[in-house]
Amino acid sequence: MMAPGMRVLVVGGTEFVSLALVRALLRDGHAVSVLNRGRRNDRLPPNVGVLVTDRKDHARLRAVLAGVRFDAVYDVIYAPTTGEDVSALADAVEAGGPHVLFVSTGRVYDHALPIPYSETTPRGYYWGEYARHKIAGEDTLLARHRTGALSVTIVRPTHLLGPLNTRNNETFFFDRILQGRPVLVPGDGRWLRQFGHVEDLADALAAMLGDSRALGQAYNVTGEECVTQVGLVELIAEVLDRPVELRHFDPALLKRFDKPGPVFGQNLVYDCHAVYTTAKLRTELGIRPRYTLASGLRQTWDWYRKEGLDQRPVDFSFEDQLLALLPR
Ligand SMILES: NC(=O)c1ccc[n+]([C@@H]2O[C@H](COP(=O)([O-])OP(=O)(O)OC[C@H]3O[C@@H](n4cnc5c(N)ncnc54)[C@H](OP(=O)(O)O)[C@@H]3O)[C@@H](O)[C@H]2O)c1
Repeated sequence: MMAPGMRVLVVGGTEFVSLALVRALLRDGHAVSVLNRGRRNDRLPPNVGVLVTDRKDHARLRAVLAGVRFDAVYDVIYAPTTGEDVSALADAVEAGGPHVLFVSTGRVYDHALPIPYSETTPRGYYWGEYARHKIAGEDTLLARHRTGALSVTIVRPTHLLGPLNTRNNETFFFDRILQGRPVLVPGDGRWLRQFGHVEDLADALAAMLGDSRALGQAYNVTGEECVTQVGLVELIAEVLDRPVELRHFDPALLKRFDKPGPVFGQNLVYDCHAVYTTAKLRTELGIRPRYTLASGLRQTWDWYRKEGLDQRPVDFSFEDQLLALLPR
């Protein structure tokens, strides 16, 4: 970890990952500024500097960052962020040669290849535009690292869970199990996936700050367990201490609807395994998660109830249409 008191810029800062990161950096004694469009800066802790701009407006981004120097810059957000956007930010912060830490994704790996995916697994466009943009972002930064213009670290998280999740995943199942609704499972629900807790990601990002071992490197950052889709739902039911009814359906049924709603979390209907090794992170940097999958779900469940999310109205109408098509 870099000595406290570093000047750090976090792109984003007010949502899920980037807000958890701001908190971790403040805890470690750094001087933190954020850059975003200014929609939720009321969420920021005190003493955080704020730069307001849309990162996709490259001329304005340059103007806002002109003459400001940072020791490190976290490029966290997906806006959707293209290689050109990452490049424009790098140009704007390049003076002084900061450490740039880029939040990429495990979805850069070619998921047609055998699991588990390590940092040496070939990357590819299995996940379409998202993978293409993230790979372009990684490559534009690593090219600058090689010329010595910037020091770069790439971080590849997988599915994240935790308070303020921008994806309706664990909360999706909380809603249904809490209300005694059946959970619809695509196919046999045996695809493997891997989740990491947002605070573990934030802590890992903060720990890498200025670490010379991490320069020019990419790391998978996620939890150390993998779980099937059904296993995840069953674990959530165990955490909630409630029964759950699973209703399997053929995902081809979704094609009958013009606009199918989400049926299994926001983005957990897969047709491949998604399993990653974190051996490099553990052995090279000594970083391990604090949360297990179960303890992370428990902490998020406590947050969900504390925020009163169990009281909010939820629209189950699409699932009711789908359930009506299934044999009993
Ligand atoms: N969630 C997951 O499961 C997961 C898994 C793997 C990787 N990731 C990666 O993790 C990163 C963080 O994801 P996230 O969901 O926590 O946050 P996010 O939605 O990517 O970012 C939200 C933050 O960015 C700001 N922002 C959004 N658009 C902006 C723009 N055009 N210009 C400037 N600021 C902008 C928002 O503030 P304003 O609205 O005020 O601008 C907010 O502070 C992403 O890169 C994502 O690809 C996420």
